[in-house]
Amino acid sequence: MLALVRAEVHADIGTDHARLPVALIRSGRARRCVAVELNPGPLAQARRNVAGAGLAAQIEVRAGDGFAPLRPGEADSASLCGMGAATIRGVLERAGAALPTRLVLQPNDSPEPLRVWARAQGYHLTAEALTEGYWLYPVLALERAGGPDPAYMGLPLAAARRYGPLLLRAAGAALREQVEADLRRLTPLAAPGRPAERELATAREAWAWLDGGT
Ligand SMILES: C[S@@+](CC[C@H](N)C(=O)[O-])C[C@H]1O[C@@H](n2cnc3c(N)ncnc32)[C@H](O)[C@@H]1O
Repeated sequence: MLALVRAEVHADIGTDHARLPVALIRSGRARRCVAVELNPGPLAQARRNVAGAGLAAQIEVRAGDGFAPLRPGEADSASLCGMGAATIRGVLERAGAALPTRLVLQPNDSPEPLRVWARAQGYHLTAEALTEGYWLYPVLALERAGGPDPAYMGLPLAAARRYGPLLLRAAGAALREQVEADLRRLTPLAAPGRPAERELATAREAWAWLDGGT
């Protein structure tokens, strides 16, 4: 996650304990951070941790919903980590002019709605990873750019949206295991007209691409 951020001013939305901003300042990957938190308990924890780290001059903790506490153009980069993809997408959709050029997103569930949002809003994928934790956490790095996202070129679209175009191209062991697990889970569930039938077709598309690389 850290390696994907390089910013003058980075906003961490839903910061909770503010561990990410503290690490970003300590590692020199951000010069200043704004840590935004909606709920009073985590907000107090964030303030305690930032003060305890002696970084109150570099990290400003603000109360509020999503990007609302930020001025337009104030941050050149933002992260939204550890929330459901639907929650993250809602925050992004309400951000308006405060939305920065670069984003790092780590949803707790399928990142597909975030890839769909990014394609529609002119953000290109610059990196994707599956990081080990309690389960595999997807991480997406995005940057605003013109034209269609080249990451998707030549890939089956449903499979790329579901599994990640850069992850499919990298064809790593973690993604292969995820696609195999989906094939095992969906095969007995798929019947004509069921959602599982479409999901299975997408998993098969991904598997065919991983197998043949085409
Ligand atoms: C599970 S924690 C993740 C904390 C941290 N980002 C991480 O990855 O470890 C999610 C945090 O987001 C906060 N949150 C949820 N919706 C929010 C919103 N709309 N604006 C700001 N914070 C929000 C929650 O209060 C909670 O502290």
